[in-house]
Amino acid sequence: MSPSDSQSLFQPLTVGAVELPNRILMAPLTRMRATPPGDVPNDLMVEYYRQRSGAGLIVSEGTQISPIGKGYMDTPGIYSEEQVEGWRKVTDAVHAEGGRIAAQIWHVGRVSHESFHDGGLPVSASAVPYRNRATIKGPDGKPLRANCPTPRALSVEEIGGTVEDYRRATVNAREAGFDLVEIHGAHGYLLHQFLSAESNFREDEYGGSMENRARFPLEVVDAVIGAWDASHVGIRLSPQGSFNGLEDNAGLPMGLHLAGELGSRNVAFLHLSEPDWAGGPAIEDEYRHYLRATFGGAIIGAGNYTLAKAQRLLDAGLIDAAAFGRAYIANPDLAERLRTGAELTEPVGATFYGGGAEGYTDYPALAVS
Ligand code: FNR
Repeated sequence: MSPSDSQSLFQPLTVGAVELPNRILMAPLTRMRATPPGDVPNDLMVEYYRQRSGAGLIVSEGTQISPIGKGYMDTPGIYSEEQVEGWRKVTDAVHAEGGRIAAQIWHVGRVSHESFHDGGLPVSASAVPYRNRATIKGPDGKPLRANCPTPRALSVEEIGGTVEDYRRATVNAREAGFDLVEIHGAHGYLLHQFLSAESNFREDEYGGSMENRARFPLEVVDAVIGAWDASHVGIRLSPQGSFNGLEDNAGLPMGLHLAGELGSRNVAFLHLSEPDWAGGPAIEDEYRHYLRATFGGAIIGAGNYTLAKAQRLLDAGLIDAAAFGRAYIANPDLAERLRTGAELTEPVGATFYGGGAEGYTDYPALAVS
């Protein structure tokens, strides 16, 4: 039986080992409010996630698996003991409210800046110049956009070390009390930089054919499964569109290749990040049918979703759940508002990244009458 057989977004869904009470999920959202130095999740983040526990599943903001995996100021990590302790407070608070939370584990690759690495270069599949900007901390402590340098290419040995970093991050996510892990394979970050022929020019076993370009991302998937099990693992992919300076023109076939590989590994969910919210084309239903036929786990759609769009795709059997990003920033009780048809608050873009409680924990929930 396909997980989409039941017909409402407000019905439960099994995702691998985890039961979700509804199918309105919170998309991963970088908010750049972790505590420096050490990039540690703090009490303000605990409160932010606690407020959003009514989501069927919260996917955490991208959390870097290593210092070299960082590309934005004050994003949290998941490689040190302090960070694990910080995340533990977050997961405890979400669980105390009856919620569930997945850790999005992240390596930005070339979407970074030497100021994060003591002057060292960011890493990628290949050392090719490209145009994009990272978000560093400006002299006033506020986010400042800065050109990304040309990265250096990871050696084969370093690729093995990076796989190990993903494994450790998964062990840490379990220890921190997360319910699932989501591997960030989307948006032009490190794994995507290997997947795409627009950024991967390697001549070894990690470059060239589609199989070779998928090798490192699948080694990561296998390591993450090995550190937990497939029923606790999902991946986010953006097979179409242009993100972070990577215009991936052949991403759709690679997406299907990966869907088959992930399906044969019984990965719990595939989170499809759709590009139309960021000026890209809409994913065609035909492609969704192919994905559904190729991947047996739960399919989560995200990007410009409304309740109507989510319900249509659920009814068509093409998604099992929808993740909402910006609407969750401004509506901590979004699932409940959608269920009751309540009005939605508009998010304020100026407070998305960095800062304190303003625009973060001060969006009110509906008053309980
Ligand atoms: C994002 N997005 C995002 N995606 C991701 O995989 N990891 C992340 O850390 C982030 N961070 C992030 C921060 C902010 C402020 C925004 C607006 C977006 C993308 C996000 O998960 C989602 O795909 C988009 O927001 C589109 O969905 P909505 O907003 O149209 O529902």
